[in-house]
Amino acid sequence: MKLTCKINNQQHELDVHPDRRLIDILREDLALTGTKEGCGSGECGACTVLLNGRAVNSCLIWACQVQHAEIVTIEGITPEKVLHPVQEAFVQEGAVQCGFCTPGMIMSAIALLLENPNPSKEEIKRALSGNLCRCTGYAKIFRAVEKAAEMLKAAK
Ligand code: FES
Ligand code: FES
Repeated sequence: MKLTCKINNQQHELDVHPDRRLIDILREDLALTGTKEGCGSGECGACTVLLNGRAVNSCLIWACQVQHAEIVTIEGITPEKVLHPVQEAFVQEGAVQCGFCTPGMIMSAIALLLENPNPSKEEIKRALSGNLCRCTGYAKIFRAVEKAAEMLKAAK
């Protein structure tokens, strides 16, 4: 199929099989390797991207589902070499732990803050409940999302 979609604010026309996974299009066809593959089955959230402003697991999305869609990956959240406030907050709070799960966590946090700029701790936990950390813990990650919310409010 001819897939027309916007990825990181750039229009793309791609020849792909309709059941090619979005994560493969991103990583293999477009070299956007910031999106990670953990489980490949919708369990870990490492592959989270924004699809029309909502966080989705790109390992579960087929090419035919993103016709004319707008997709944002971790590479597209800011201009090159500039940190997004959510990334800045993750750095400040020491929430960048293994690095493998971090892009997905950041994308889920951005989706949450786009929809709800003032989330409670419970809402943060719920929004990140699909992003698994297998090595350490979530305390610093949740603190970083709270801090990012403050930073984004202060910047307005
Ligand atoms: Fe997609 Fe784990 S790789 S949810
Ligand atoms: Fe990435 Fe734990 S910090 S899996």
